[in-house]
Amino acid sequence: LRHFLTLDGLDRTMLTRILDTADSFIEVGARRIKNVPLLRGSTVVNLFFESSTRTRSTFELAAKRLSADVLNLDIGTSATAKGESLSDTLLNLEAMASDMFVVRHSRSGAAHFIASQVTPGVAIINAGDGRHSHPTQAMLDMLTIRQHKGGFEGLKVAIVGDILHSRVARAQIRALNTLGVEEVRVIAPDTLLPTDVESLGCRVDDSMQSGLADVDVIIMLRLQRERMEGALLPSEREFYRVYGLSNEKLAWAHPEAIVMHPGPINRGVEIESAVADGPQSVILDQVTNGIAIRMAVMSMAMGGQRATAWNRTGEGS
Ligand code: CP
Repeated sequence: LRHFLTLDGLDRTMLTRILDTADSFIEVGARRIKNVPLLRGSTVVNLFFESSTRTRSTFELAAKRLSADVLNLDIGTSATAKGESLSDTLLNLEAMASDMFVVRHSRSGAAHFIASQVTPGVAIINAGDGRHSHPTQAMLDMLTIRQHKGGFEGLKVAIVGDILHSRVARAQIRALNTLGVEEVRVIAPDTLLPTDVESLGCRVDDSMQSGLADVDVIIMLRLQRERMEGALLPSEREFYRVYGLSNEKLAWAHPEAIVMHPGPINRGVEIESAVADGPQSVILDQVTNGIAIRMAVMSMAMGGQRATAWNRTGEGS
């Protein structure tokens, strides 16, 4: 890997390599063993132009577990507020000997644009761009599914809610199909489905009862109002009544189905607390796995050989 911008074009072997590398970092990520020196002497800059709790924190922890120096640029108090262009901000950060930018932006394509601007040798990791992609989120979701289900073959996965505005759903559908699940279903009202949904490689269902029948994995999504721009929407109450995941609806799925959500959760809108905090929920495992996946992606982007060497020896420092 040089940059990590999207899952498009990455085959099953590469996705599996990312998952295997992440597996080798689980113990370091959880601080059960010492940090590893793979990025010692490197500087990682977190450039978040949009709010984040999980992604930004786990990228920072992942970089620290890899022994990198980490700079979190606070966009709200940066010279962006004085009119400095993105290109000039990048030039100035590069002049501080930065090696990697982790980028979140409200515009689809922002990470690709930044990758086209920086000098060769600086790696760009997409931490979520508009409604386009959130590749590390999809990969931590795949790691969580593999941990709980042992693999991907034969799995039926339902993704429920606001597919239209979700960069996570697009990346998940791509990853699930590449890794060879049996079926991906999306369950949503027409108004929350993208027009190209059929071409994404999933079955569309507007009924929770038929869509959840016998599924092994349920991924709930929130209504992403920050990207809606005046779309016609059901009220939160109506949405919850039809699509909100309650224990009653969960009973339509396979009895051992796991429940996932990328966060942030809106309790009582897309999921009830009894499910989010219940025995089938793996939502906090997803958060934990964010550290190992981000360690894997950063180390592979900064020098695949070093990541592979770690994979072989499993030695920390
Ligand atoms: N899942 C996710 O991207 O969460 P944050 O917005 O908190 O980073």
